[in-house]
Amino acid sequence: MNTHAKINDSLTLPCGAIIRNRLMKSAMSEQLGDKNHNPKPGLETLYRTWAEGGLGISVTGNIMIDRSALGEPANVVLDEQSDLEAFRRWSTAGKTGGCAIWAQLNHPGKQIPNFLVKTPVAPSAIALGGGLAKGKAPNEKLSAWKTVFETLLASGVYSFKQRRV
Ligand SMILES: Cc1cc2nc3c(=O)[nH]c(=O)nc-3n(C[C@H](O)[C@H](O)[C@H](O)COP(=O)(O)O)c2cc1C
Repeated sequence: MNTHAKINDSLTLPCGAIIRNRLMKSAMSEQLGDKNHNPKPGLETLYRTWAEGGLGISVTGNIMIDRSALGEPANVVLDEQSDLEAFRRWSTAGKTGGCAIWAQLNHPGKQIPNFLVKTPVAPSAIALGGGLAKGKAPNEKLSAWKTVFETLLASGVYSFKQRRV
């Protein structure tokens, strides 16, 4: 008997979510944030088109959790200043036909161009080079990381709230 899953087989995750097939789009940073880092309408078009194409899961590109720590200038940011309606429109478009849309929340550490931030919170103070920033010295890092984790949690809560609409 052939027990291998087929690409069109649905998959039930331990959390109960049912994924309609085995096709997943990996995260690809879109840089489709507007000047306030809210999703531009193009994100709706893009994710609706991918969903209509038959994907099981769309993982979004980077959604930044801290507007003072962007990975790229036109990233979207999900925080207390965000236009949650714009995020809802994006996620609704991404769910067309039963596709799942998974938000990738991101803090870039030192993978951040040095023209955006010179010394971001990062795992070490060693620069990556190639125009990327140098992290903060280790003794400055711990409380800064606590803030990053709290911010990540808050962004996760915003993400969860908009999912229930
Ligand atoms: C244009 C582009 C943008 C990407 N943006 C992200 C991103 O926002 N977040 C992330 O974790 N990975 C990002 N990646 C990495 C991809 O999700 C993927 O892991 C990587 O391309 C390896 O898969 P592949 O060998 O099929 O290309 C990006 C890749 C590309 C090509």
